[in-house]
Amino acid sequence: MTTDRVEHSRVEEARLLVEKATDKSMPSLSCDPVLINFLTYAGTSALFTAVFFTDMPHLPYPIQDCLLNSQDPKSSTRVQYLALALWNIHFLRRTIEVLFVHIYKRRMPLVECIGAPLYYWFLALFISWSINGDSYQTFSLISAIIGTVVFLVGEAGNAWCHLKLRFFRTKEQDASLVSPDTGHIMPHGVFFNHISCPHYTFEITTWIGFFLVVWTMPSALLLLFTVITLIIYADKKHTAYIDEFDGEYSRPLYPVSRRRLIPFVF
Ligand SMILES: NC(=O)c1ccc[n+]([C@@H]2O[C@H](COP(=O)([O-])OP(=O)(O)OC[C@H]3O[C@@H](n4cnc5c(N)ncnc54)[C@H](OP(=O)(O)O)[C@@H]3O)[C@@H](O)[C@H]2O)c1
Repeated sequence: MTTDRVEHSRVEEARLLVEKATDKSMPSLSCDPVLINFLTYAGTSALFTAVFFTDMPHLPYPIQDCLLNSQDPKSSTRVQYLALALWNIHFLRRTIEVLFVHIYKRRMPLVECIGAPLYYWFLALFISWSINGDSYQTFSLISAIIGTVVFLVGEAGNAWCHLKLRFFRTKEQDASLVSPDTGHIMPHGVFFNHISCPHYTFEITTWIGFFLVVWTMPSALLLLFTVITLIIYADKKHTAYIDEFDGEYSRPLYPVSRRRLIPFVF
């Protein structure tokens, strides 16, 4: 057998071990992540769009409307539609990724199955409502343009990282990089060389961009919640990688210089 073939069969062996381990450790109160994430993201997109086109009662400032007002009704309508488009780009992309890109090995705990859709649907309602109606006046068209560029960089980077994670799982040929417990591959390559969770960094970039477009209080809250959530998630993931790749029994050692979300910093 050539070295390549031996390597390949070791990868397959590791994958089988993971499937067995996943079956055994499956918690009883859990749901299918594809179904829940699909309903969450597709629902978020649909709800935002429905509220956007519905005549909603006006809420008091600063719950509704722009935090910094420029009295520019013409560009305001454009910014409202821009926000609608950006929101749908993000959540439709996530819906497609859930269906066709991610390969989940873990089930979703019950609390997340209930919490995730409620969290996203509530934010969709709140954020769409905050820019709804004729009273919304954008802060500045320049900020909206810069925000759109930042948003699109976040989207492209996030999508690229998700594809990379997918290809780690399906195409990785180096068995020594596969964790037999989780099937995770020790991440490597552009972005992953410096931080454990570049997909989370790009997700935060997306919501910074969205905030710069609309400047509303609910979009600032979305950004704040995202930063807090992803700092916690990234810390957990980084610690898990250090455990999975501990340098023992021919497992690779997780690079000590790698950070969680921001290269050289955190
Ligand atoms: N706005 C927010 O508050 C928020 C919060 C969380 C997530 N999100 C969004 O949702 C996206 C996905 O989040 P997530 O927490 O589900 O990400 P994740 O845990 O990194 O998982 C994404 C997919 O990649 C797989 N994967 C992860 N690391 C891998 C590795 N080293 N080798 C092979 N496969 C790997 C996972 O498989 P397993 O199932 O086997 O781990 C899963 O299928 C984020 O990038 C972000 O865009 C947003």
